[in-house]
Amino acid sequence: MILRALEQLTRTWKNGWSLIDLGTGSGILALAAKRLGAGRAAGIDNDPAAISTAKSNAQLNRIGGVVFKAGDVRHWRTTRAVDIITANLYSDLLLEILPKLKRGRWVILSGVLRSQAKEIMAAMRRNQMAIAKVKRRGKWILIVARRARRHEANTARPAR
Ligand SMILES: C[S@@+](CC[C@H](N)C(=O)[O-])C[C@H]1O[C@@H](n2cnc3c(N)ncnc32)[C@H](O)[C@@H]1O
Repeated sequence: MILRALEQLTRTWKNGWSLIDLGTGSGILALAAKRLGAGRAAGIDNDPAAISTAKSNAQLNRIGGVVFKAGDVRHWRTTRAVDIITANLYSDLLLEILPKLKRGRWVILSGVLRSQAKEIMAAMRRNQMAIAKVKRRGKWILIVARRARRHEANTARPAR
């Protein structure tokens, strides 16, 4: 679901955009980003085995230039703005790191239970993110948001 959202979002973009994937696991999103036209792409995971798998996947698929780092997303800091931040993490962790996600021009969140959607979306709005799209699959939802302009209304509702 998140990969499709990434592909749809960037389909018309000029190559060279940037992405950071928080909780990268096997690295699939950061690697796909590079294939879709990202200039800078990076993935962070607190599981060293995941980082090692992500690096192997980059080699196996001959995708260079993606930076994979072991670390806790709670300690992630960046001074550079980034075009897209993806995060497929459980809701409590998403809520904790949400203020940092404002560094992203676009944010794609998944791993959110439908029952927690309202709370997450309210927190996103408080953090100046405008909800652009909400997708549901079973009990899970995915949220695409962009950095809000001033006084922007948020009207997107979970898809049925
Ligand atoms: C559901 S998987 C997502 C994998 C991949 N991004 C995807 O969408 O298929 C969540 C990943 O987040 C990582 N993770 C969980 N808590 C984390 C934390 N505090 N800091 C960094 N990574 C974390 C886990 O190790 C796991 O690889």
